[in-house]
Amino acid sequence: MQKLLLVEDDPALQFTIKTALEVQGYAVDAVSTTGEAIERLDDGAYPIVITDIYIDERTGIDVLNAAKRRDPRCAVILMTGRGTVETVMEATRGGAFDYIAKPFELDTMLGAVTRAEAARNDNEPEAEEEDLPESSMIGSSAAMVEVYKKVTRVAPTDATVVIEGETGTGKELVARMVHRFSQRSKQAFVAVDCAAIAPSLLESELFGAMRGAFTGADRDRVGVFEAANRGTVFLDEIGEIEKSFQANLLRFLQEREIRPVGASRAKEVDVRVICATNRDLQRMVDDGKFREDLWYRLNTVRIVLPPLRERRDDIPLLARFYVNKYNGRYNREVRLMDSGVREFQNFTWPGNVRQLQHVVERLVILSDRIDSEAVLDALTAMDSREKPVETLADAEEDQIRKVLAATGGNKSKAAQILGIERKTLYRKLERMKL
Ligand SMILES: Nc1ncnc2c1ncn2[C@@H]1O[C@H](COP(=O)(O)OP(=O)(O)OP(=O)(O)O)[C@@H](O)[C@H]1O
Ligand SMILES: [Mg+2]
Repeated sequence: MQKLLLVEDDPALQFTIKTALEVQGYAVDAVSTTGEAIERLDDGAYPIVITDIYIDERTGIDVLNAAKRRDPRCAVILMTGRGTVETVMEATRGGAFDYIAKPFELDTMLGAVTRAEAARNDNEPEAEEEDLPESSMIGSSAAMVEVYKKVTRVAPTDATVVIEGETGTGKELVARMVHRFSQRSKQAFVAVDCAAIAPSLLESELFGAMRGAFTGADRDRVGVFEAANRGTVFLDEIGEIEKSFQANLLRFLQEREIRPVGASRAKEVDVRVICATNRDLQRMVDDGKFREDLWYRLNTVRIVLPPLRERRDDIPLLARFYVNKYNGRYNREVRLMDSGVREFQNFTWPGNVRQLQHVVERLVILSDRIDSEAVLDALTAMDSREKPVETLADAEEDQIRKVLAATGGNKSKAAQILGIERKTLYRKLERMKL
């Protein structure tokens, strides 16, 4: 019988997991403190350890380290209801086998244990530890923990990453995380909004241009790829680049060389490329608007950010985070009430985290306590459907919100439906604080 150590301080959960595993034929030793856990590990090695993270004065990470000291091949499965990108990172660095967000289905746990058993002969070497800054990404839902796992796994590689997600879901934040957790973290991170640069200028912006290459080029111009040499370039709104430029980009990704406009020779540069888009690139490929070969090239690693409405458990965390932040910034002491949190959780958030952030900012400035009434007022102020329309500007804003909600926050689609340029829509959204 396979021996297994379970560390969980919640007696009910401990009992449930223990029973489920025993039914599967495991011999489970269950303890509820880190002290007992480490004692057991001193007595004898366990091939598999399952541990909660936040237990007592010590954590599951200490259990992980003790288990690995005893037996580097030990498969440690961590579980927590309060996962952050840092804890996942720490767990990954400590050689954890898997990381499961609570609450989970028992099948998820059993699946992890089965895989742990299978993978016992296939362990990663231990990575060195390092002090980590406090988390800059909020959200402990299973969906976000999956994102953290992907970020931590892909960050140290030089792989090209494409980040997809609706507007305001945190694509740029994730891109910065990938950079921060990579070996390039001390080097430059340069973000380029491909939608904001005229297509005719994109090439010289990214690849550079020689003096006299075109009218107005009165001196050599260093492109972004060269300026960011040894660092990371973040190409935002990659779905907006024209097909001719898609070909240039593909060539660059294959050859890692730039040829500034008007230059006769190519130069080698070493940059990692991260792209983001709120468009459905696969569909653009199907519609012939995006090069399939470029899509495959970018597609190596895909991180898809879930919209906020699909991870409502994270809404209270985010709301609390932003209430604290803006209380500090505006020197206020606005309290967040349960009823307010419930209203937040019931809303659909077409503008995702960014919209939540703006609503909280407004509430911190304008109200004394964030309760149901205050939240509904703030949301109504943003969504004028419930008010009689007064001015043309109101009607316009109302229409923009409706269309954005209908397109799930996809600005390009919304602009198309509204019959305006993307840039115009951006300007309007900025004015609307959306
Ligand atoms: N998980 C998160 N935790 C904390 N802040 C977040 C999170 N996700 C997003 N944010 C914040 O929300 C705002 C929008 O995020 P970001 O700019 O990364 O979105 P985006 O996906 O790039 O949106 P767009 O497509 O509109 O450019 C930022 O202020 C960011 O810090
Ligand atoms: Mg962005």
